[in-house]
Amino acid sequence: MFRLFGLLISLIVLSFVLGISCLEKGTLAKLKKFVNCESKAYKSSHAIYKDYWVLENYVMAEHGDIPCYSNVTYTTHADYTYLDNVVPLLERWRSPLSLAIYAPGTDFEPTIQSILYLLQCHPGHDLVRQLCSIHLYFDVEHLPQVVLPPETALKEPANCNGPPPYVNVFKGNMYRAQNTLDYPVNMGRNIARRASLTHYVLASDIELYPTPGLVSDYLHFLGRQVIGIPGQQPTSPLVHVLRIFEVMSNVSVPNTKPELQEMLKSGEAVPFHMDICEACHRGPNLEEWINASVVSQELNVFNVGHRSENNNNWEPIFVGTVEDPPYDERLTWEGQRDKMTQAYAMCVLDYEFHILDNAFLVHKPGIKQPGNRKEIFPQERRNNGLINKKISREMRMTYGTRSGCVI
Ligand SMILES: *[C@@H]1O[C@H](CO)[C@@H](O)[C@H](O)[C@H]1NC(C)=O
Ligand SMILES: *[C@@H]1O[C@H](CO)[C@@H](O)[C@H](O)[C@H]1NC(C)=O
Ligand SMILES: *[C@@H]1O[C@H](CO)[C@@H](O)[C@H](O)[C@H]1NC(C)=O
Repeated sequence: MFRLFGLLISLIVLSFVLGISCLEKGTLAKLKKFVNCESKAYKSSHAIYKDYWVLENYVMAEHGDIPCYSNVTYTTHADYTYLDNVVPLLERWRSPLSLAIYAPGTDFEPTIQSILYLLQCHPGHDLVRQLCSIHLYFDVEHLPQVVLPPETALKEPANCNGPPPYVNVFKGNMYRAQNTLDYPVNMGRNIARRASLTHYVLASDIELYPTPGLVSDYLHFLGRQVIGIPGQQPTSPLVHVLRIFEVMSNVSVPNTKPELQEMLKSGEAVPFHMDICEACHRGPNLEEWINASVVSQELNVFNVGHRSENNNNWEPIFVGTVEDPPYDERLTWEGQRDKMTQAYAMCVLDYEFHILDNAFLVHKPGIKQPGNRKEIFPQERRNNGLINKKISREMRMTYGTRSGCVI
């Protein structure tokens, strides 16, 4: 009796597992047909681009070639002091990561040491080796002392006895600070996105961790969208937005929406940067999203937003494609508003921002307080001047205008 029951259970489990993997194959076949992209060869290269040396795929992931329609790449940028995020991010993402690291002058050496530490010493080094592609870039005016080819540099044994080279760095001692170089954030964003092997990318900031299982849920979601309408493209371009939250430094990152909702109730979690720039992150229907309970294990669209109208300053993070408008490389981190021109282009092109229901991003634990904003004022003024005069004219020439779209 019990044996029969056990058999029944294992049959059910088996068919469930097989059902999932069949769906996986069906989904991939559909995406292969539906997604208009060309796979590229995975290789390492170096070139001068604008005022920078770019060493693309200096570190190559062991995953090798990937068909462009079959996966999603997390693309991001950092300097070496942010590399503590790589493993926690990969533990949740478990898919390709394309990371551009700014390493001018003498910041290059600790960058290499930090990479070696991640590849050789960190308990999560297998994930790093498997999934992480790293690109290095630096100004032609601020060359490192020596740049060894990756074959040589990455063979050096790391010092696994000391602390990771990326922790407790005093930022004032960094080459970048001592030479008052701005952080070329959009250069990094574009380098990382350009190097993506996949058509779909989550262009994000390295401290934002996605919910586990997002990539396969997302590909299934895309697969479901093309059921019955093979090859049909949506009329407006669209991207899929992930809402962002922060949690207290003493709690762990929620894995599911019900967990997040509990934490929002207890005050252990809050929507991202509400005190710093509410208009940048709120987006439409935030309260309704928070209130809504999970009704399906599948991923779906909760509501659709546009960049215009009441959401002029919204800076959503989304799963999009390598063909979305690029980031303006003249805008820097210190100047703020670094995503504004991309957002303007997406407004004019009438992008739809489809907000996903059961997936989200959580910032590395620790709720950020509004900082001392006076400190960054001069660059901010310079960026604003640049956006207002030169860039906004260029943007209008390139993308045109549309009522409701502002820079
Ligand atoms: C994406 O690629 C990684 C690395 O090859 C792989 O481990 C992962 O399973 C892939 N994701 C999906 C949904 O196929
Ligand atoms: C985290 O810290 C806050 C106060 O800072 C406290 O109220 C809360 O109970 C702590 N949570 C845990 C899980 O330790
Ligand atoms: C969210 O739910 C609470 C309690 O059920 C309710 O009082 C509130 O009006 C809801 N808010 C929104 C925006 O739906």
